[in-house]
Amino acid sequence: MAGLTSFDERHGDGAARPAISVIGTGYLGATHAAAMAEMGFDVIGVDVDPAKVAALSAGIIPFFEPGLPELLQKHVASGRLRFTTDLAEATALSDVHFICVGTPQQRGSNAADLRFVDTAVEQVARALTHDGVIVGKSTVPVGTAARLQRLVSLLAPAGIDAELAWNPEFLREGKAVGDTLHPDRIVLGGASERSEALLRMVYAAPIAEGTPVVVCDLPTAELVKVSANAFLATKISFINSISELCDLAGADVSVLADALGHDVRIGRQFLNAGLGFGGGCLPKDIRALMFRATELGAHSAASLLQQVDEINMGRRQRIIEQAVEALGGSVLNRRIGVLGAAFKPNTDDVRDSPALNVAAALHLRGAQVVVYDPEAMDTARRLFPTLSYGESMTDAARGADLVLVLTEWTEFIEADAAELASFATSTLIIDGRNCLDRAAWESAGWIFPQTPAAVDAQQQEIVGSRTTRARNIPAIAAS
Ligand code: UDX
Repeated sequence: MAGLTSFDERHGDGAARPAISVIGTGYLGATHAAAMAEMGFDVIGVDVDPAKVAALSAGIIPFFEPGLPELLQKHVASGRLRFTTDLAEATALSDVHFICVGTPQQRGSNAADLRFVDTAVEQVARALTHDGVIVGKSTVPVGTAARLQRLVSLLAPAGIDAELAWNPEFLREGKAVGDTLHPDRIVLGGASERSEALLRMVYAAPIAEGTPVVVCDLPTAELVKVSANAFLATKISFINSISELCDLAGADVSVLADALGHDVRIGRQFLNAGLGFGGGCLPKDIRALMFRATELGAHSAASLLQQVDEINMGRRQRIIEQAVEALGGSVLNRRIGVLGAAFKPNTDDVRDSPALNVAAALHLRGAQVVVYDPEAMDTARRLFPTLSYGESMTDAARGADLVLVLTEWTEFIEADAAELASFATSTLIIDGRNCLDRAAWESAGWIFPQTPAAVDAQQQEIVGSRTTRARNIPAIAAS
């Protein structure tokens, strides 16, 4: 098919903007494609899945992401955004080719599976009909981009100036549109003067808003992304390990986190203690980083991440144990209402969801688990068809011996606690996300069972104070 001439030539002839292809139209690619169209570019999204291409072409997003359907429909209608399964066609019609395919965890290993990235880059490089820049956005182990750069120069047709740069993406699910249109920073790794100029043109709108641009080499760009995720994961596991200490000492971790957060060097975000992190990114990205760090001999990084992962996975086990304990040592044939299935609020994503993980584990122990989530019912049903699902919070609470809050949806936080209590058989509740106003829920009749550790600690304190009084020894203040 007839393609474009190089952007440099067209630009010289008055063309104002490079044309863009986006390879892979999952969370990252679909959002990036729609955002690029919103920024005024002609965009072609490419996916190997014809059903996905058909849905996107009809303005339908196959997952829940606030604001994205509106943006997609706006630009499919404006003609600025279209989708195809034909990668060669998209490559011929574009100047900047964003690689947005997934890098899942390999089966049976912590390493990232790079098959999709390798294939996408290889196919674009081979299909180039004029000069172009291939821009990696996928999260990859450090060293991947340099290897792909060599591949691009080997595979690009003779006489074509083909470059590869890395421009990691930091979007959060649930806030993907805002994060893409107004990023915190733009990282450009391994870009030549020409490709940097092209990418600055692509990101002209956020740059004009003051978004900082960090220009660096390829390994730094790759590592910025995984280090950002590793830091966020570490912050969550830090507060979760402190929450264990709080439970034992009778302190309130939420108040503690508020107090810590007032220190601008620490900040309040990602200090919510609870069930820990999940989703399609943080868990697999820290594991891939752990794997790569070990390969490179960076053992302290690997052992830190191992600890972060262990603390995080331990949170799920802890809630399961708390539920068993709250029901007197067994959940067999007890009814448990689970509020939340998504890995976090404002998404229907249940990939590595701590909430579903806990629900499924309790189900396997013989509990009658009824799950409700405002958005993730279909995705949860697909992953765990054997669990029971209710259509509302009330369905989940009806007849329950115990209610678990496992995703902090606003609907749960703002629920009428007294009304909900009227449906439950027992008003035992475990707030796995520390998101409820405990005093208000207690006055509405709900009982928050104490953790076994806290009960133990209190008992020890009582025994200790009796002994202390008997012996008349003054208590020693903790340092
Ligand atoms: C993350 C990164 O934030 C984003 O920059 C990157 O591009 C992709 O990975 P996302 O997976 O959408 O984004 O989720 P995020 O908002 O980071 O939350 C991850 C998990 O951490 C969720 O399960 C959430 O519930 C949990 N979390 C978050 C906590 O347990 N406590 C907190 O304080 C914050």
